[in-house]
Amino acid sequence: MTPVVLWFLLVVPVVLVASRPAQGSANGTLPLVMWHGMGDSCCNPLSLGAIKKMIQQEIPGIYVLSLMIGNNVVEDTKNGFFMDVNDQVSMVCSQLSGNPQLKGGYNAMGFSQGAQFLRAVAQRCPSPPMKTLISVGGQHQGVYGLPRCPGEASHICDMIRKALNTEAYSDLVQKHLVQAQYWHDPLNDDLYKKHSLFLADINQERVVNETYKKNLQMLEKFVMVKFLQDSVVDPVDSEWFGFLKTGQAKEMETLQESVLYKEDRLGLAAMDKAGKLVFLATQGDHLQFTKEWFDANLLPYLR
Ligand SMILES: *[C@@H]1O[C@H](CO)[C@@H](O)[C@H](O)[C@H]1NC(C)=O
Ligand SMILES: *[C@@H]1O[C@H](CO)[C@@H](O)[C@H](O)[C@H]1NC(C)=O
Repeated sequence: MTPVVLWFLLVVPVVLVASRPAQGSANGTLPLVMWHGMGDSCCNPLSLGAIKKMIQQEIPGIYVLSLMIGNNVVEDTKNGFFMDVNDQVSMVCSQLSGNPQLKGGYNAMGFSQGAQFLRAVAQRCPSPPMKTLISVGGQHQGVYGLPRCPGEASHICDMIRKALNTEAYSDLVQKHLVQAQYWHDPLNDDLYKKHSLFLADINQERVVNETYKKNLQMLEKFVMVKFLQDSVVDPVDSEWFGFLKTGQAKEMETLQESVLYKEDRLGLAAMDKAGKLVFLATQGDHLQFTKEWFDANLLPYLR
């Protein structure tokens, strides 16, 4: 079993209930840009393909762009594991700015790691403007642990786990293993801050980049969905921008308790005060939701 197949099993969104007839019209509806999770691709008919179809049934005429990172589905899937995330983000920025349909702005929905990558797009690439960002099971403070593994491929997980535990912050691993680029080790905070090429940068761990702060605050809403029985993301608090307190690996802190928020290094405190942050929770394991839940809780942000 290849790692791609392995992770695919873990990270595709699963919609549990069949669809209803369409309603509404797309007049005045902003386009939607989606970024898939690790092991998934833009166009998998069982995951993002199905979600795109479902949204288009509910909002007829809506333009939905499911991002492909690379020239085909195989490259797209592979790049979700092995391509420098900063390069992926630049690639997406040029895709978006070159797309005439997005000129007037767009909403964005990221699944799992696709959520923090889209946040980087919001922070780095203000044109065309992203209006609402919906993070579905994203890891905004990274992860400190490897997702569960199916037994038969556990040796592959062991290899990745070993790379993360021993060499996550080496330049080579940072550049070539996507998971390392949002690996956040609370016991080695200095290493994380110094060597994390992606997450520490977008989370303003080294310097406060005023451009990031200004751009993120241009969002009208930033919606974060947490899965209450998530067995893939560790710690699950990261889905709401919380994380382990620095220097230990047990106690959590919420976004509101963090230095990032207290010093408002990213503008999140200001956004919170302005009512722009939305924290949603749902029953279910990673990326598993019902159509009823999706329609009731996420669709309203897209109409
Ligand atoms: C919807 O948009 C079309 C074309 O832009 C326009 O002709 C039509 O009148 C609009 N309908 C409503 C209900 O606004
Ligand atoms: C801040 O972010 C902008 C946009 O990505 C970038 O061009 C600039 O170099 C960054 N500045 C610093 C100090 O990192």
